[in-house]
Amino acid sequence: MDRTNPIGFFDSGIGGLTVVKSVTEILPNENIVYFGDTARVPYGGKSNDTVVEYTIQAANFLLRKNIKLLVVACNTASSVALKELKKFLTIPVIGMIEPGSKMALQETKKGIVGVIGTRSTIGNKAYSNEIKRLNPKTKVYEKACPLFVPLAEEGWINNKVTGLVAKEYLTELKEKKIDTLVLACTHYPILNEVIQKAVGKNVKLVHSGIPAARIVEEYLNGRGLRNISNQLGKREFYVSDVPSKFQEIAEIFLGKKITHLHKVELDELTNE
Ligand code: DGL
Repeated sequence: MDRTNPIGFFDSGIGGLTVVKSVTEILPNENIVYFGDTARVPYGGKSNDTVVEYTIQAANFLLRKNIKLLVVACNTASSVALKELKKFLTIPVIGMIEPGSKMALQETKKGIVGVIGTRSTIGNKAYSNEIKRLNPKTKVYEKACPLFVPLAEEGWINNKVTGLVAKEYLTELKEKKIDTLVLACTHYPILNEVIQKAVGKNVKLVHSGIPAARIVEEYLNGRGLRNISNQLGKREFYVSDVPSKFQEIAEIFLGKKITHLHKVELDELTNE
């Protein structure tokens, strides 16, 4: 394995960019390859079997790009497919659930934590199980917020409708007196502002991007795999459907022009 090989990131759509942002902030010289499965987003309402199948296809696609490490920048895929991936991958894989849970426990003062995510992540109790495993005394209140993913994909970031949806979803968590809210879907940090407004400024919002980025850094340092080039890393993006909307939102969110963006045919993912 070469230090200059890219780090692979995968999400159902644009959500994983929130993790890319955290990683590239601390590791700007790393080359990265991102795959967003925009033809099949959202994953959050799909069965575990379907999500596992799509995740394995995405991982194989990224492996063909010679990645040195895989970041499953999707909570839904992390909660159902991480074990399967670990069975066949010879490179390390970093998921979202453990870093996000640890961060929530570091931040909560009262031990009352809210978790919002897709139907799949919440239905699988991915975070409540992990948080309680790490600290059984914590009270965890969970809520699926499926409409947030299409709103983020559409770029309705600071929008009246998004504000109303956030209020409708989050009032019941606010009433539980949570002091920390885990954004347990990588799309949600894109809607950070509206979510913060709906729960009030005293609730600390956390997501897996920052702690996952630290794990990536530790891993690369530990294995001597950090890219020591002093050039800014190359960033390549692949999507499985029309790239234009992805490009528009990604450029707003990352605050940078995206120059290497390609469409992948679904056949390329499904026929190996
Ligand atoms: N961004 C994803 C997550 O973290 C998936 C959202 C979806 O496709 O429903 O769960």
